[in-house]
Amino acid sequence: MTRPLLLASCLTLAAMASPSAPAQTAAAPATASNAPLVGDAGNGRTLTYTCQGCHGVEGYRNVYPHYHVPRIGGQSSQYLVNALNEYKRGTRRHPTMQAQAQSFSDQDIADIAAFLSELTQ
Ligand code: HEC
Repeated sequence: MTRPLLLASCLTLAAMASPSAPAQTAAAPATASNAPLVGDAGNGRTLTYTCQGCHGVEGYRNVYPHYHVPRIGGQSSQYLVNALNEYKRGTRRHPTMQAQAQSFSDQDIADIAAFLSELTQ
C-alpha cells in the first residue's frame, strides 16, 4: 500500500547520498612561460628550515623514526619539484605535505629543489 511512498523516500535517500560535485578546481597557476625556473639554493636553505624537524635534512636522520619520512636531501631537483607540485595541486595527498607545498610559490619550490638536490651524504 505504501509502495509509491517507499519508492519516493528511497529516491530521496539516494539523492542525498550521492556526493555533491567535488569542487576540484585546482586552478594550476598559469606560468608565463614554460622555461624552467632557476632555483636559488641560498633561499632554498632558508625555506627548508621547517622541513628538518620531520625530514632531518641535516645528517639525514629522521627526528621521528616511528613513521616513514622519505629522504629528500640529494634527490634530483626535478623529482623534488614534481613531488612538491603534486602535493600543491592535490594530485598527491598527504595533509602535512599538502599544507607545506601550498604555502610555496613555483619559485620557492625551485629554490627548495635547488638547495636539497645539492646536498650530498
Ligand atoms: C610534519 C612532518 C613533515 C614536514 C614538516 C615536512 N614533511 Fe615532507 N614529507 C613528510 C611525510 C610523512 C612525507 C611522505 C608523505 C607521502 O607518503 O606522500 C613527506 C614527503 C615529502 C616529499 C616527497 C618525497 C618522495 O620521495 O616522494 C618531499 C619532496 C617533501 N616531503 C619535501 C618537504 C619539504 C621541502 C618540506 C619543508 C618545506 C617538508 N617536506 C616538510 C613529512 C613532513
